Amino acid sequence: MEYRKFSKFEKPVSLFGIGCMRLPTIKKENESIVDEAEAIKMIRYGIDQGVNYIDTAYGYHGGQSEVVVGKALADGYREKVFLATKSPVWLVKEYDDFGRLLNEQLQKLNTEYIDFYLLHALNKERWESIKSLNVFDFMEKARASGRIKYICFSFHDDHDTFREIVDAYDWDMCQIQLNIMDMHEQATVEGLKYAGSKGIPVVIMEPLKGGKLATGITPEIEAIWNKADVKRTPVEWAFRWLYNFPEIAVILSGVSNMQQLEDNIRIFSDAKANCMTEEELALVEEVRKVYLSKTKVPCTSCEYCLPCPQGISIPRIFNLVNTAAMYNDLDGCRNGYKDLINKQNDASRCIECAQCEAACPQNISIIEKLKESHQYLLQE
Ligand SMILES: NC(=O)c1ccc[n+]([C@@H]2O[C@H](COP(=O)([O-])OP(=O)(O)OC[C@H]3O[C@@H](n4cnc5c(N)ncnc54)[C@H](OP(=O)(O)O)[C@@H]3O)[C@@H](O)[C@H]2O)c1
Repeated sequence: MEYRKFSKFEKPVSLFGIGCMRLPTIKKENESIVDEAEAIKMIRYGIDQGVNYIDTAYGYHGGQSEVVVGKALADGYREKVFLATKSPVWLVKEYDDFGRLLNEQLQKLNTEYIDFYLLHALNKERWESIKSLNVFDFMEKARASGRIKYICFSFHDDHDTFREIVDAYDWDMCQIQLNIMDMHEQATVEGLKYAGSKGIPVVIMEPLKGGKLATGITPEIEAIWNKADVKRTPVEWAFRWLYNFPEIAVILSGVSNMQQLEDNIRIFSDAKANCMTEEELALVEEVRKVYLSKTKVPCTSCEYCLPCPQGISIPRIFNLVNTAAMYNDLDGCRNGYKDLINKQNDASRCIECAQCEAACPQNISIIEKLKESHQYLLQE
């Protein structure tokens, strides 16, 4: 296992971290519940192999993830790891909610302290809201009382917002979404380097874009990876591109079964910073371009088209169409679209008022693209 050392942390962290948002599940009646025995076995196996970073959050698996992690960390495992969980800031309506939620989380996790406490999924709006609720006063008091050790945030918004949040406080760590397809999205690679330049270690989430970079690999993409001198799986390439960056402290991997966990621990056994050659980086760029070339609608999800008077989730529909085409995942996206139909947010509700087209900075022919998307997503 590769460990990385950062002056902000009391001891080195394992570069591989277990993300507990996609634990193995079993179907019970109409819902999926965490397969506790298997999840505990996997988490403990990872720790036995040297993983010392476990990431969960208040809301994962409908609240079950923290409970299962708490059980996995019994029997002496808690002391072996850094435990990270997140404050569900969208549930915080007044100052006292911060403390109430933290106490609930400590109880669920069956622990006296949380190492990394992150303000979860910050975006512009949530950032403004928690600032007005005196969030740093709360976090510092929680740290002084020993209930948390490190003050951190996780992030889902654009680069400028990321910089603003990074500049606003002496953070101990931040968590961003990054993978070979998101290098220019959200915080971006530039954001990663910016945080690094300020001495803030960065934890990565969605390294495989939620699994999309691991499945549905087309022969075209396979042929590009096969041009490399050393043969690696698409999963290995995706992780390798990330651990190449020395600014990264931990790469969180959401694993849904033991085989994936074993595979990923193997991949991280010789993970080194600055390991990618120019030729390898060029292959990543080639693969990225092939994925991007499948984009069906050039929507950037800026949401200028919203609200649609008919309630149509325009950017969400275009995102489903693009995801289906880029990652060869029509089945998954069809299910997502059926959800929108059930909620009456689908494209069939368009009355062609063209309000969205007037607002779209990309000049997308939204009315026509909505019709095409509807047909595409409903095809069998
Ligand atoms: N703070 C936040 O806002 C936030 C947001 C997202 C995630 N996170 C954290 O970051 C963690 C990592 O993100 P993520 O779960 O999206 O990670 P990811 O690595 O991008 O996706 C995980 C999925 O990739 C597939 N996979 C993993 N290893 C594989 C392998 N060796 N071979 C084939 N497929 C493999 C599995 O998909 P299948 O199940 O389809 O096989 C797995 O569920 C999360 O678990 C969570 O802890 C935080």
